[in-house]
Amino acid sequence: MNVDGTVAVVTGGASGIGRSTALELARAGADVVIADIHDDRAVDVVREIEALGRRALAVHCDVTKDADVEALAAAAFDAFERVDILMNNAGVPVLGPPERVSMEDWDWILQVNLYGPIRGVRAFVPAMIDRGSGYVVNTVSVAGLYAYSWDSVPYITSKFGAFGFTEGLALYLRPQGIGVSAVCPGLVESNFGEHVRFAAVDDPTGWIAPMVDFRPIGSDEVGPVVVNAIREERFLVLPHPEFADMLRTRGQDLDAAVAAQIAKLPPPPPRKATD
Ligand SMILES: NC(=O)c1ccc[n+]([C@@H]2O[C@H](COP(=O)([O-])OP(=O)(O)OC[C@H]3O[C@@H](n4cnc5c(N)ncnc54)[C@H](O)[C@@H]3O)[C@@H](O)[C@H]2O)c1
Repeated sequence: MNVDGTVAVVTGGASGIGRSTALELARAGADVVIADIHDDRAVDVVREIEALGRRALAVHCDVTKDADVEALAAAAFDAFERVDILMNNAGVPVLGPPERVSMEDWDWILQVNLYGPIRGVRAFVPAMIDRGSGYVVNTVSVAGLYAYSWDSVPYITSKFGAFGFTEGLALYLRPQGIGVSAVCPGLVESNFGEHVRFAAVDDPTGWIAPMVDFRPIGSDEVGPVVVNAIREERFLVLPHPEFADMLRTRGQDLDAAVAAQIAKLPPPPPRKATD
């Protein structure tokens, strides 16, 4: 897809991967709507986009709320008349032993990471189908491709759902002229840790496993990779190319891949009586 002259909406666009992609889209000639719950940062990104000579709009939008996402679509159509690119990117982490994660936190992570993209698609894709063109980018994670650790079961659950949703959308939308990409980064430096919720245990940080497969990259590195993938209309976007090998191994023998991952990690800490 040619990005020049398009209109894009980026949820979670005020920070990290969303901000980086929003700025790169603007550099490529797009006007961008920044949708986030962090209003001050969203306004800062709008200023950065305007300084690049493109139009931008900040909209307060909590992707867990139907009405906010519907209002986001109304604001974007009002300001720019159409939306060519939707990036469902807002996401949050929950850590800790899965049987100790409250139902409220399970609901929260699924509402943001899985229902958020679903709401985005419901709000923006009908107009794309009517036009026969458009692009949907969902920020998933390598957590949507393999279970990397025992400390992040809710996150992995949400991202497997988001990956399946995105792959299914590709089958449905690409024959209708609408591109679909699943962005699956490994570890990216961002403000992601600010939103983390821990399950109720005595020592939450003791429940964080070492990140054995991960090499951090700056969030500024991700935007250009995403925008290139949109240009080339590539489905799977791996800002850390080393995960392509892991996917191949996994495809060859899933039982062996799961066993190897268990062997790589230290065991989870013993549960205390008071936990
Ligand atoms: N940082 C990583 O290592 C990493 C790796 C793989 C995938 N991801 C995914 O990338 C995406 C972006 O994360 P990031 O690392 O840039 O983190 P970030 O925290 O820097 O940015 C996420 C943005 O989403 C916003 N947000 C959170 N909840 C929201 C809600 N309910 N409604 C609207 N906005 C909301 C936050 O305010 C923030 O501005 C997430 O989906 C995350 O799961 C991150």
